[in-house]
Amino acid sequence: MGTRGTEIVGMDVKKLLDLLQRAYCDEWLAYYQYWLGAKIVKGPMKDAVIAELEQHATEELSHALMVTNRIIQLGGTPITKPAEWYKWTNCGYDAPEDVYVKVILEQNIKGEQCAIDVYQKMIQETQTKDPVTFNMAVTILEQEVEHEEDLQSLLEDLELMVSRSA
Ligand SMILES: [Fe+2]
Ligand SMILES: [Fe+2]
Repeated sequence: MGTRGTEIVGMDVKKLLDLLQRAYCDEWLAYYQYWLGAKIVKGPMKDAVIAELEQHATEELSHALMVTNRIIQLGGTPITKPAEWYKWTNCGYDAPEDVYVKVILEQNIKGEQCAIDVYQKMIQETQTKDPVTFNMAVTILEQEVEHEEDLQSLLEDLELMVSRSA
């Protein structure tokens, strides 16, 4: 823990760590949901969808890393047991049991919309109190917004294609 770096945080550090731990669990679950979805998805436009899911998986993992680093800087210990992820997560985990592209896209869009709300809230809570976490949350939010748009535009193309070929 950086002592001065932690002293300048103008909010309850425990409360801040709780927000970060929850986001940490969300990121791991999002990573796994994308990673597995990319392996098993089926249907039209599969190749484009796989490429997007794989890229998102990599980025969710990088978010987990950013959040972990911040937890450690603040003197916390990132959740050590995956079994705890379910208890802490804001956004949960949607198992890709129906592997049709449309279903996988919709599940992940829902996840991104939840992630957007999580980081928007973190930004609001930290903006005048903790510039370091604030900055991290803005960086992640930018990517979550991009993820939502990537998936929604794939879904739009898919629906167009399906309706035109009917
Ligand atoms: Fe993320
Ligand atoms: Fe995302």
